Amino acid sequence: MKQYLKTIFALAMSATMVFAAVGCSSQEPTSEPATDEQQEASGGTLTMATNAEFPPYEFYDAGEVVGIDVEIAGAIAETMGKTLEVEDMAFDSIIPALSAGKADIGAAGMTVTEDRKASVDFTDTYVKASQVIIIKADNTEIAGPDDVEGKTIGVQLGTTGDIYASDVTDNVERYNKGFEAVQALAQGKIDAVIIDDQVAKALAADNADVKVLDTPFTEEEYAIAVKKGNTELVEQINAALTELKENGKLQEIVDKYITAE
Ligand code: ARG
Repeated sequence: MKQYLKTIFALAMSATMVFAAVGCSSQEPTSEPATDEQQEASGGTLTMATNAEFPPYEFYDAGEVVGIDVEIAGAIAETMGKTLEVEDMAFDSIIPALSAGKADIGAAGMTVTEDRKASVDFTDTYVKASQVIIIKADNTEIAGPDDVEGKTIGVQLGTTGDIYASDVTDNVERYNKGFEAVQALAQGKIDAVIIDDQVAKALAADNADVKVLDTPFTEEEYAIAVKKGNTELVEQINAALTELKENGKLQEIVDKYITAE
């Protein structure tokens, strides 16, 4: 009998709490003055699809995705009066997410390529980059791009590094994270890694067993991707990018993460 009463009481309590919670949330927006955040949110959100395995462009710091792309996208969202929301996913899921309308922009150190232009539209470019080669620090055999032919090359799946490596060898090892490729290299499982220059530097800085070669494999440029046909969004982002280039804010963001040699 006691147990039975307790149950009734618990049920009554939880029902009261549900009503209280519902009452609360429906009242909140009208009863309190809007904060800055709420005001910005009223312009909607700009959802950024990225792959946060790519320092210094996007990576985790204390459980949060930070980096050059996150800050640039944040500044773009701000000029559009929107709140930025970051969605971390596999690199090769970004373009499908845009096409499916699950994200507004793809900001992921994404290189503009003719192939990708068939599936998405790109904004103006915002960074120049290159693909470089990482080798073991004690490797005396590989000195430049000509020496990786036929070698076992590690890349991040679906990246331009993947495409270029596939051009020069049949032995491409594809990893979900660039970091894993560098680890495999340090362990002697592969001969080289082909990856973006700044990322190579960031990953090699944490690993004394590897070094980055000076001669770039290819030159490329990064841009933000949007769903094919969304010219309005491309124009809005380009306007924001022009402003960020002109007022020095873009350079400021880059300089915060990349120290010039
Ligand atoms: N720039 C290369 C590409 O576009 C690699 C980009 C990888 N980006 C990332 N966030 N993991 O294919």
